Amino acid sequence: MCGIVGYIGYEDVKETILSGLEKLEYRGYDSSGIAILNGTGLHIYKDKGRIAHLREIVDFGKEGTLGIGHTRWATHGKPNKINSHPHQSSTKRFTLVHNGIIENEDLLRMEYLQGVQCESDTDTEVVAQMIQKFTDEGKEPELAIRYTLTLIEGSYALAIIDCENPDVIYVAKNKSPLLIGKGKEFNMVASDAMAMIHHTNEFYELQDKEFAIISRNDVSIYNLFGMQIQRDIFLGELDASDIEKGTYPHYMLKEIDEQPFVIRRIIANYQDENGNLYIDQKIIEAVRSSDKVYIIACGTSYNAGLAGKHLLEKIASKSTEIHVSSEFVYNMPLLSDRPIFIFISQSGETADSRAVLVKVKEMGYPTLALTNVKGSTLYRETDYQLLLHAGPEIAVASTKAYTAQIAVLAILACRIKPCTKVDMLRELSIVANVMEALCDNKDLYEDLAKQYLSDTRNCFYIGRHVDYYTCLEAALKLKEISYIQTEGFAAGELKHGTIALIENDTPVIAVITQESINLNTRSNIKEVKARGAAVITIALKRISSDADQIIIGDVHEYLTPLVSIIPTQLLAYYAALHRGCDIDKPRNLAKSVTVE
Ligand code: AGP
Repeated sequence: MCGIVGYIGYEDVKETILSGLEKLEYRGYDSSGIAILNGTGLHIYKDKGRIAHLREIVDFGKEGTLGIGHTRWATHGKPNKINSHPHQSSTKRFTLVHNGIIENEDLLRMEYLQGVQCESDTDTEVVAQMIQKFTDEGKEPELAIRYTLTLIEGSYALAIIDCENPDVIYVAKNKSPLLIGKGKEFNMVASDAMAMIHHTNEFYELQDKEFAIISRNDVSIYNLFGMQIQRDIFLGELDASDIEKGTYPHYMLKEIDEQPFVIRRIIANYQDENGNLYIDQKIIEAVRSSDKVYIIACGTSYNAGLAGKHLLEKIASKSTEIHVSSEFVYNMPLLSDRPIFIFISQSGETADSRAVLVKVKEMGYPTLALTNVKGSTLYRETDYQLLLHAGPEIAVASTKAYTAQIAVLAILACRIKPCTKVDMLRELSIVANVMEALCDNKDLYEDLAKQYLSDTRNCFYIGRHVDYYTCLEAALKLKEISYIQTEGFAAGELKHGTIALIENDTPVIAVITQESINLNTRSNIKEVKARGAAVITIALKRISSDADQIIIGDVHEYLTPLVSIIPTQLLAYYAALHRGCDIDKPRNLAKSVTVE
């Protein structure tokens, strides 16, 4: 949600900032803007809409060596030109871009900005106006900014220009992500490394409540009281090619296809030199010594957690509860005596999950993050971390992170109970091969999507046991990118009400991977067929029948969610494609949801 890019150097900044913003498009946004400072003053271009539109309104004749840019996902005020960033103080001296939410904006307006006319509906403008106010009262700009930051409550990543000082960009961070990129004769700042990796792979991490002054040849980091902080550079692990689409038409398709490779990478990263499963003993002990695991997550990560709960209980005999973050934080259940909290999050930045983390840390409980992003907020703030090794996931619809989450949880479950009979490394290798075969069968999914999903209003996924969890994720995928109203249902539950929605030709997609429920789900298929449903069946080979349209190669019964999800991801992809949807950037959605 929201993306920031800033650059100061000796070259014209426009292309660097615009292409940096394009790299942040995946985060989700509805408006964009850029400010460039040069000898003739500050030039702002901004509007509702995509970067492609911003490119049309930017005056490429105006050159400048200092600039800031922004993609906005509206929270305060409609997505329109006035509310788009950059925002300015009323004298136009200070211009800034912001990611986050200023929670005490009303209080700040009342206390400090009486009589100041704000142009926009945003919380962000308050920050610009306050910096101006304190500067007008005689504080040096740097002090005025730091003082403003001490008064703000909420989350922010800020990049600020002072028109009277063309040699620096001020930046600050609290809870929202921000990285500083160190270059040769330039420095940059951005919401994540993807926006900078084409220019540098040397970064400074800015921590919460830190402030930095970035000039062409220097980066100085301070706390909010002005004490300088020494920070080492770290080298980005990102490969520039990881964030390109290559020959793929969409990131989502590329990321679906990457899944066999991701599973193999997980196998490589979670084994020791003797070829045994490896997870840090401290993590194993922490989970073992708990009396219950609480999984906390949102969206797709929650759905992966459902499969993870099954693995932890079946393989490791570890009692596990799973909760949606946004519910858990305000309605906490009675906890066990010695809980451990596992936060599953692709981005590691999800505000709902972080809110739970803050709460359970205050209560003194141990916490473990399962995330794809090293150095993300959840990664930094938890006691223990396990990485997904999925590589950057750019499409808003999560695919490879989902299967990576389940695979890492399967490894964790095996390590907690080493006497388990499951040879997880071998079983995961089989999974990777089966995934590959499924990904090679795209024509089938495209044909089915065209036939069943190209003009339907709604759709149902039904399954039992772990297949029900797969159905929840499959339904989320289909609805988020194709906008078909889709529900995932426990197949046996349909007859208790929802079957009333089945009409002639309503698509019902059944997932069957478990022998124990094979016949039950097939009975439920007959029930919906009798009411006119158009049924697609996805079945595991060893329990399949000739009438099943999609057959999945055999894998260990615990690991079927890793493979049964692949056809559903591809059905969603092709349904969205044939309906003309914006697959990588579905409407109203953001990749990392940094507001509660
Ligand atoms: C997935 O396709 C979604 N876009 C969304 O549900 C996502 O999984 C959710 O917002 C959680 O994100 P996280 O894994 O980064 O915490």
